Amino acid sequence: MQKVAIIGAGRVGETAAQILAEQETSREVVLIDIREDAPQGVALDIAQMAPFFHFDTRVTGSNDPSAMAGAEVVVVTAGVARKPGMSRSDVLEVNVGVIDGVVDDILQYAPDAIVIMVTNPVDVLTYRAWQRTGWPRERVLGQAGVLDASRMAAFIAMETGFSSRDITTIVLGGHGDSMVPVARFCTINGLPVSQFIDDQRMAEIVQRTRDGGAEILALRKNSSAYIAPGASIAAMVDAISRHRNRLLPCVALLNGEYGQRDVAMGVPCVLSRAGLRRVIELDLNDVEAAAFRASAGGVLEDIARLPAVPADRTG
Ligand code: LAC
Repeated sequence: MQKVAIIGAGRVGETAAQILAEQETSREVVLIDIREDAPQGVALDIAQMAPFFHFDTRVTGSNDPSAMAGAEVVVVTAGVARKPGMSRSDVLEVNVGVIDGVVDDILQYAPDAIVIMVTNPVDVLTYRAWQRTGWPRERVLGQAGVLDASRMAAFIAMETGFSSRDITTIVLGGHGDSMVPVARFCTINGLPVSQFIDDQRMAEIVQRTRDGGAEILALRKNSSAYIAPGASIAAMVDAISRHRNRLLPCVALLNGEYGQRDVAMGVPCVLSRAGLRRVIELDLNDVEAAAFRASAGGVLEDIARLPAVPADRTG
């Protein structure tokens, strides 16, 4: 891949840029931010790390949205983060205004890109980006489940002592209090996790996964998580860039899968060069399916709060 653009050079954006540069996922990474000089500073800092890691990725920063021209993937991290005690939905009103402007820039400068939405509330804003671009769902995804699943895997590794590389987890639903970590599908190198963790302890891990972002925010106080979120973005971009056909939980527009449509939320997705190749439907039991429906209900409530898209603004 030639070029990735990251809109928003805050901590999540800069961490993703750093990892993508280090892994040479694309030839070029451009960070774009409205804050004067900020993206240029971040880009220089990352470029100066190159001698340690021997990467040739060209990293630049710009305040001009036209710098995204030619990007095959545009990652959107711009917007405000929640403060301790706030839910992700509490930042919807302000962030929808930010995202609408970013989407209009993408329509103008990177009309063929694949968009990865990261800004919260990510499910709703992925929906918004899809709605405002008018693009096929293949090219409008959101990052949440990769992070939530990595949190769950980390907790299972801490609990069992097994290497996290052998741990596979899956988290469905909205990226909020109602997310649905599906313990039944979690394995340790193919073995069901229930062989190593009892139901009660697993229920605690599921809850800690749901609260994973809030736990870090409460501890850091002045910052949401950004290191694992940055790595999660990099994993999605890598899957697309290297045409890997990876099966990753991502926010996607549902088109009847899981009995839902006209909503975006976390489901297992196959990612390749074209973006979303397909959504995989899991055979959920009654309890899991009810949790998924409840999560969809929460996302739909937030979608109902979105302002209308002016008819002349859809792509
Ligand atoms: C988190 C926020 C960034 O989960 O959504 O950490």
